[in-house]
Amino acid sequence: MQTNRRDFLKTMGVATVCACTGLATLNGCKMIRGVSSTAAIPVDSYHLTGNELTIDLSKADCLKHPGGAGKLSLDNEDEVKVIIVHHEPGKYKAFSDHCTHGGRELNYKHEDKILQCSSFGKSTFKLTNGHVIKGPAEGPLSIYPIQVVNTSLKLTIA
Ligand code: FES
Repeated sequence: MQTNRRDFLKTMGVATVCACTGLATLNGCKMIRGVSSTAAIPVDSYHLTGNELTIDLSKADCLKHPGGAGKLSLDNEDEVKVIIVHHEPGKYKAFSDHCTHGGRELNYKHEDKILQCSSFGKSTFKLTNGHVIKGPAEGPLSIYPIQVVNTSLKLTIA
């Protein structure tokens, strides 16, 4: 069978696109680092005592209103990262801020009530229980128990 130049180039083009798409799917989160747009919770608004994290809501503007979200990183030996969501008036949820696919940071999408990875794979997770809605992530997010006490949030970081 004889292949003309046009057919050869067409075949090579398709092969190249397939190879690039495959690589991006397999390694996208390693190759393309997403940027989280979720606000940082001010450092002077929280403190850690043992494994109890207290956040003063009067100093954390990003968490004041429903639909708000904020994130923080603890300087402890486990370097815990947390994303906190104010999803309904007076109701909050807290998750580990690590996508279970490749560890990238998350964002909260209030209009869909989901958490979504900031990286290329865009894994999405249920707000209710952290379970995967759409991969490539396969495992659920870790959830931290959280409660409102007066004007503060109290989380247990295990
Ligand atoms: S790190 Fe790959 S989808 Fe989140």
